[in-house]
Amino acid sequence: MEISNQNRGQWGSKFGFIMAAAGSAVGLGNIWRFPYITGQNGGGAFVLVYVLCVIAIGIPMIFTELGLGRMAGSSTVGAFKRTGAKGFWLVPPFMALSVSFFVLTFYSVIGGWTIGYIYVTLTSMDITFDAFAQNPTVVLPLFALFMVLTVGIVLGGVSGGIEKASKILMPVLFVLLVLVALRSVTLPGAMKGIEFYLVPDFSKIHTSTVLMALSQAFFSMSVGWGIMITYGSYLPKDANLIESGLWVGFMDAMVALLAGFMIFPAVFAFGKNPAEGSTLVFQILPDIFKAMPAGGPIVGALFFLLLTVAALTSSISILEVPAAYLIDEKKWNRKKAAWVVGIAAFIIGIPSAFTAIDGSFFNTISMPWFGGKTVTGWLNIIDTIFGTLFIVLGSLLTSIYAGWVIDYKLLTKNLGDGNKIFHKPLIAGASPAQVYAFVLRYIIPITIFLVLLNMMGVLGIFAGT
Ligand code: ALA
Repeated sequence: MEISNQNRGQWGSKFGFIMAAAGSAVGLGNIWRFPYITGQNGGGAFVLVYVLCVIAIGIPMIFTELGLGRMAGSSTVGAFKRTGAKGFWLVPPFMALSVSFFVLTFYSVIGGWTIGYIYVTLTSMDITFDAFAQNPTVVLPLFALFMVLTVGIVLGGVSGGIEKASKILMPVLFVLLVLVALRSVTLPGAMKGIEFYLVPDFSKIHTSTVLMALSQAFFSMSVGWGIMITYGSYLPKDANLIESGLWVGFMDAMVALLAGFMIFPAVFAFGKNPAEGSTLVFQILPDIFKAMPAGGPIVGALFFLLLTVAALTSSISILEVPAAYLIDEKKWNRKKAAWVVGIAAFIIGIPSAFTAIDGSFFNTISMPWFGGKTVTGWLNIIDTIFGTLFIVLGSLLTSIYAGWVIDYKLLTKNLGDGNKIFHKPLIAGASPAQVYAFVLRYIIPITIFLVLLNMMGVLGIFAGT
C-alpha cells in the first residue's frame, strides 16, 4: 500500500481534529433535518431505531471510513484506488462524491436561511417563514453568501481554515443548545411534546421508517459522503482514531437528541404539527425565542449565528470531498478546485432555493417513492435520492469493500495504531478489533441489505401501517 502525504494537509492537533470531525458531523443534519424527519416518522419509535442505528452501524462506519482514508493517505476515490479498487469497486467512492456534491446544492440554501434568520430574530421582524423563503431576492443572495463563506474557509486549507474555525465555535453552540432546550421543555404544554419524542409508539413504524432512521444516522454522522475518508487521510499514523471516532459519534448523537428536546416540546406547546416537514425548525424556533421572558431576540440571533457556524463547519467538509478529489486525482490547485465546486453547486442549487415558492414548478415536481409514496419538491427529491438512497447504498458497498474485498485485517491493524486496547481481549475473550470486524463484515451489510429489501416491499415487515 503506497502512502504519500506530500503536499497534502494534516491536522494540527488531536483536539483540533476531533473538533473538525465533530464540526463536520454536527450541522443542519442534526438541528434542521433530525427534528423534521423524526416528526414525520412518528416520534419516539423512530428515535429509538435511530439511536440503535448510530451505535450498531454509524459509529463502526466512522471507524471504517477514517481507517480507509488514513491507510491510503488519500481522499475518496484515491483511497479506494490505492487499496486496490478497480472497475465496480470504484462505484462507492463516486457515489460518495455525488452525495457530497448534490447535498451541498441544497444544504447551502438552508445555510442561507439560517443567515437570514439571524437578522429576522434580532430585529423581531414580523414575517412568517413562508413569506421569507418565498422571496428569491432575499433567499438567493443569502444562498450565495453561504457558498462564498464555505469556499473561503476551504481555501484556508486543512489546519488553518477548517480546524481553527471548529475549535472555538463548536463548544459555544453546545451551551446555547442546552439553553434553548431548557426554555422549550419549561413551556406550558411541553409535556405532550416530550411524550411524542420519547415514548415509542411502534404502530407508527412503517416499511421506510428504518431506512429513514439509518439514512438520518449516516447523514448526520457524515458517513457515506466520503467526508470521514477525506478527513482520515489528513490524520497522522499515531492518531488514536478509535477514540476520536467515538467522540465524534457521541457528540453528534447528543446534539441531535438535544435538538429534539428543543423542538418537540415547543411544537406541542404552540399547537403546531410535528409532521410539518422541512420548514419545521424555522417555524418553531422564532416562537420559542418570542416566549422567552427577556432577551429573546438576542438569544435567537446568537442561536442562528451559531447554527450558521455549525452549518459552515459541515458544508466545508462537504465541499472538501469533491475539492480533494480534484486536488488529489486531477492535480488541480486548491483555489481552482474549491471555486469550481462552489460555483457549480450554487448553479445546480438554484432550483432548491425555488422549492419553497408555493405552486412553482420546483415546488410541485414529484417523484414516485417506495411504499406507494410520492416525494414532492425539488429539494426533497435531491435529498431523497442522494441524502437517503445513495448515502445508504454507498455505505453498504463501502462496508462490503472494507470487510470482504480488501484484507480487513490490514484495516483493523491500522485502526489499532495509536490505541492501546483495541487489540486486547476485553469482551468475553474477544478484542474490540474482533468485535469491530464482525460488525463490519456481517452486521452492517446484512442489516442494510434487509432494510433496503424491506423498503422495496420484499419482506413486508411493518407493511400496511
Ligand atoms: N453531517 C452533517 C450534518 O449533519 C453534514 O449536517
